[in-house]
Amino acid sequence: MYPELNPFNPGSGLEPPTLAGRDAEVAAFDLLVARTRHQRLSPSIILYGYRGVGKTVLLNAMRRQAASAGWLCIDIEGQPSEPGAAAVRNRLGRHLHVAADKFKNGKPYTAAVRRAFGTLTSFSLSLGVVGLELAREQPNARAQSGRLEVDLEELVEDFAPALKESSSAIGVFIDEMQDIDQELLEALLTVQNRAGQEGIPFYVVGAGLPSLPSLLGRTRSYAERLFEYRQVDALDAEAARTALERPFLDRNVMVAPDALNLLLTESSGYPYYIQIFGQAAWNATPDKFVHIESAQKAVEVGYHRLEQGIFPSRWDRAQPEEKEFLRSMCEVPETPCSMAQLAAVGKLEQDQLPALKRSLIEKGIIYSPDLETVAFTVPGMPRFIRRQDSLA
Ligand SMILES: Nc1ncnc2c1ncn2[C@@H]1O[C@H](COP(=O)(O)OP(=O)(O)O)[C@@H](O)[C@H]1O
Ligand SMILES: [Mg+2]
Repeated sequence: MYPELNPFNPGSGLEPPTLAGRDAEVAAFDLLVARTRHQRLSPSIILYGYRGVGKTVLLNAMRRQAASAGWLCIDIEGQPSEPGAAAVRNRLGRHLHVAADKFKNGKPYTAAVRRAFGTLTSFSLSLGVVGLELAREQPNARAQSGRLEVDLEELVEDFAPALKESSSAIGVFIDEMQDIDQELLEALLTVQNRAGQEGIPFYVVGAGLPSLPSLLGRTRSYAERLFEYRQVDALDAEAARTALERPFLDRNVMVAPDALNLLLTESSGYPYYIQIFGQAAWNATPDKFVHIESAQKAVEVGYHRLEQGIFPSRWDRAQPEEKEFLRSMCEVPETPCSMAQLAAVGKLEQDQLPALKRSLIEKGIIYSPDLETVAFTVPGMPRFIRRQDSLA
């Protein structure tokens, strides 16, 4: 069928044609937005999970929910390096101005709003994040200490009356939150905590790798009371079926049951793979009916794409000893697995393991769901590694 009409959308943060299996998360955030409208506070939401399960797409959906309720929304994405950290702050500053401008739209320019904008100007000047060209009001005496935490808190405090007037909230939406620099992370958590105590609706809504909840807990012991942690995982059987079949049905294309089953088995409910195999099946189908032959062709094309993309991009980043670590992970009965299990495989010495584990986590190839164990960040990796080794 015409590839230019192909609805599937494999890629990072790309909207799927059907957002399947996420009703509970969308409803939880809806409730938070509804409570805000009644000036009631709730814990915020943190989404965590493997890469490719749909966290970014879900976070974006939540941001749209908040924006349509008139929230002042800012979105930033963590970056691991030091220049990355500076870029994130710059974006935070810029976005605050843009978001504040949007927030003001359609609302009366009251004294409360004017004061908030004055503090916003001093905040950006003090942190050197944005020049005056974006400023709407002259700086005032607030948010000028140059210390992120103090200034952010004053900024949020000064926005509180304006938020109250419109029963809305500030939402800072952070993707790849595990990569936010420590100082900014501490400031955001502290400010959300204090804001909560003062009844000010300031929410950090985050998405990140499975290590995120424990990172937040280590950063601030009260983090677990600030947030509701929601694991975003592969889709269950019914949702996976919807995600794969609905985009065809919506366009009057039928999928044969055996073809659908094959595509579902191969994608194991993993949203990114659903998009990959769905896209390939569409392209492999000559008419308005997806037969098993098209599905088989699609699986081949889809795997080829995965083998060109997400698997080698991880494997090639690993050093020789790190590869031994990954091979050991392919030999234990299942992951997550412990260091003791890896040592028992016999490829590496026990005392080599902690350093290798750390560097592989830094490279985003594995993660540690708790302090003891490790797992791959994408499913299907062991199969690729075994194939790779059998070809070598
Ligand atoms: N609920 C869903 N149903 C179907 N496809 C989805 C769903 N969520 C995400 N996807 C698809 O999965 C891929 C990865 O989504 P993304 O949000 O980037 O994942 P993550 O941020 O967890 O790495 C994208 O191609 C997206 O279209
Ligand atoms: Mg993402």
